[in-house]
Amino acid sequence: MADDKEVIEALANEKRLFEPSLEFVKKANTASSALYEEAARDHEGFWARQARELVSWFTPWDRILDWNLPFAKWFVGGRLNISYNCLDRHVESGHGDRVAIHWEGEPGDKRTITYFELLDQVKRFANVLRDLGVSEGDRVNIYLPMIPEAAVAMLACTRIGAAHSVVFGGFSSQALADRINDASAKVLVTADGGWRRGEVFPLKSQADEALENTPSIEKVVVVRRGGNDVSMKPGRDHWYHELMEEASSDCPPTPLDSEHLMFLLYTSGTTGKPKGIMHTTGGYLTHVTYTFKYVFDIKPETDVFWCSADVGWVTGHSYIVYGPLANGATQVMYEGVPNYPGNDRFWEIIERYKVTIFYTAPTAIRTFMKWGSEEPAKHDLTSLRMIGSVGEPINPEAWMWYREHIGGNQCPIIDTWWQTETGGVMISPLPGVTATKPGSATFPIPGVAAELVDDAGKRVERGGGYLTLTKPWPGMLRGIWGDQKRYQETYWSRFAGRYFAGDGAKLDDDGYLWLLGRVDDVMNVSGHRISTTEVESALVSHPNVAESAVVGANDATTGQAIVAFVTLRGGSNVSEKDLRDHVAKEIGPIAKPKTIYFTPDLPKTRSGKIMRRLLRDVAEGRNLGDTTTLADASVVDELRKKATAAPNED
Ligand code: WTA
Repeated sequence: MADDKEVIEALANEKRLFEPSLEFVKKANTASSALYEEAARDHEGFWARQARELVSWFTPWDRILDWNLPFAKWFVGGRLNISYNCLDRHVESGHGDRVAIHWEGEPGDKRTITYFELLDQVKRFANVLRDLGVSEGDRVNIYLPMIPEAAVAMLACTRIGAAHSVVFGGFSSQALADRINDASAKVLVTADGGWRRGEVFPLKSQADEALENTPSIEKVVVVRRGGNDVSMKPGRDHWYHELMEEASSDCPPTPLDSEHLMFLLYTSGTTGKPKGIMHTTGGYLTHVTYTFKYVFDIKPETDVFWCSADVGWVTGHSYIVYGPLANGATQVMYEGVPNYPGNDRFWEIIERYKVTIFYTAPTAIRTFMKWGSEEPAKHDLTSLRMIGSVGEPINPEAWMWYREHIGGNQCPIIDTWWQTETGGVMISPLPGVTATKPGSATFPIPGVAAELVDDAGKRVERGGGYLTLTKPWPGMLRGIWGDQKRYQETYWSRFAGRYFAGDGAKLDDDGYLWLLGRVDDVMNVSGHRISTTEVESALVSHPNVAESAVVGANDATTGQAIVAFVTLRGGSNVSEKDLRDHVAKEIGPIAKPKTIYFTPDLPKTRSGKIMRRLLRDVAEGRNLGDTTTLADASVVDELRKKATAAPNED
């Protein structure tokens, strides 16, 4: 956060304020400050009421919360089933014919799936998993494109009490193998391939490479989607459609303990090893169901919701699968990219399905801005009544463009701050209540307590600081799989008694919160969290690389861009393209550095520490500040000369 000051000053000048329209307020699921007041009066009682009213339990809980910092147990002793909450109860109450998912493949093929049909598939697949030897407590790995089977597989796990671990389809075989092994998953669910940018990208062959080094996997289920050739290992690999045809659709939901492990989702930290974030059943479901009702203001009878994230990320877990389905909502799910076949694909989809609530990421919005407002103008977007943003700070300019060109100047914007670790939305406007400012996530939602602190851990009431959460919340992570010490150290040790989110933020004179980005060594590239160390390890795993340093540089479209400084082993050579491909192979294409600078030395302090601040200055083309602590100042001069020459990206 080298240029904090400028950012803070620019934000302080943001005076525009947008009240929700009277029409929106009239129909809003909540339109007063009552929820804030209730939660402030009785934090636990507030959440207990949400859990009671929004979630169906087989057995009520004995205690709302056991809080043994940093370990929380919510709704202790209660028993429930997530797939029952997402499916059966809607069918039982007569809504089996309601569309759960309008799915659209990238080539244009379409499927409409009702709640009844989704339940039928989930029950069958739950039986398939059981027949393959999966039982309560086992982990199932899911590596799929954006197809309805991803939701089916996830829900089927929750039906029988297996934990899912979804790995984003864009991750490499190495990244997949690491995650499978960390979780000791028993079964892998994958596909032949999926569609992206008009072509089939292979998944099964990636999975096959991973499977050479994943001894815990006993069975593999393959969904046919891409139609590409795959090799099937007899005894281990099975086609999804064949197993489903034979499977029974009789599968009662297993009542599970509220604290039963529901899923693992891996996310980058400040070290090279991804963290398996643990979420459990009752608290997570309560949190996402509540936020989807009040933050997304869902009206299940009339709304058509669309979240453009991938199910491989937490946004897809919470606001494609669990939040919408638990509320009985109808949603759109789309497989491909926004610019196939044309730059108006998203707007065409919104028009086709009459989407009423659209949720996307700032990096996408900035890309749409680049493509021009004539693209959305080709389509009728008047069905939209609310739009949302997630994943990174949204700059006021993009916020205003989104409001005008997508929201038609009449949709409230919810800028929602949260994390894989928080499970669901934490800081956001309530669309029928909060007056918004372009670029501000506004206030913690009812039931969430957030405060800024300074370096010494002292509360900051105005101005910049570190974002911390001060009370446990139901959707909070229950730890890091296999490493509770790291859980404690990463989130709970920097400031006593507080959860440290790793983000910087600012409070303005009206008490509005402005997120300023990560303060640790985690980059945010197009809303994806990637650690500098992870990319550095990938680079030095190349035989010709001696040393590397990676920094996130500001980027107008992707938020941050990965810039790598690389020192090669004596006498060796490697092209920038080869190195980039190597990183893609180690982690995935999303982690490819945008720019690589080759340098005979990295700038280091006399004690040998790489000076990242200087590298960030170089990467962002800034004048260099103090270099007196450098062991060898000439290194930086050389780098700066290189950086001012033409950038060498693909
Ligand atoms: C960033 C995504 C500013 C933040 C749900 C956080 C945001 C990280 C916002 C979590 C927002 C997410 N404004 N920054 N509205 N939403 N972030 O785990 O740095 O993929 O710590 O979860 O994204 O990313 P994750």
